[in-house]
Amino acid sequence: MRRAIFPGSFDPLTNGHLDIIKRSSPLFDEIVISVLNNPDKNPMFSVEERVSMIEEILPSIPHGDCNLAVDSFTGLTAEFAKSRDATAIVRGIRAVSDYEYELRMALMNRKLEPTIETVFLMADEAYSYVSSTLMKQVFLLGGRVAGLIPEPIEKRMREKLGR
Ligand code: PNS
Repeated sequence: MRRAIFPGSFDPLTNGHLDIIKRSSPLFDEIVISVLNNPDKNPMFSVEERVSMIEEILPSIPHGDCNLAVDSFTGLTAEFAKSRDATAIVRGIRAVSDYEYELRMALMNRKLEPTIETVFLMADEAYSYVSSTLMKQVFLLGGRVAGLIPEPIEKRMREKLGR
């Protein structure tokens, strides 16, 4: 059983994240989309909301024979991966600017858990500028994010702001 975790804040999940899930699903038997519970970050959505939004989207993601699951965690990603018997941590790379940060994380995670490899996948170039932070910023200022985040999540963002 080849299990990977795909960790992140997912506040909120974007179409870039979906693209990475789709691309990684042929490589693993199971992918656990792992939502970090980081109270310091002052998120738009609670961890419970993020998990439930992702659960709502999952059935619409093509995933072949790969099982997709969602979970949340606190603390170290490497420790969480180990606790789920994962052999890999999946991360998406959008542009060269992501590389340095991702490299440092991958090396630190490897130091913490040498048996777990980080697998980098290149997001579709259409999403090279899409990040949760940018999506929230644009949305809060009234800009359009259609096509960049899943429709049900956009709806939840509208509800959150009473629009
Ligand atoms: O959505 P993000 O911000 O790109 O996700 C970053 C995440 C959650 C993968 C990273 O911040 C993380 O792994 N945090 C957990 C704490 C940890 O393990 N830190 C050491 C990694 S070097």
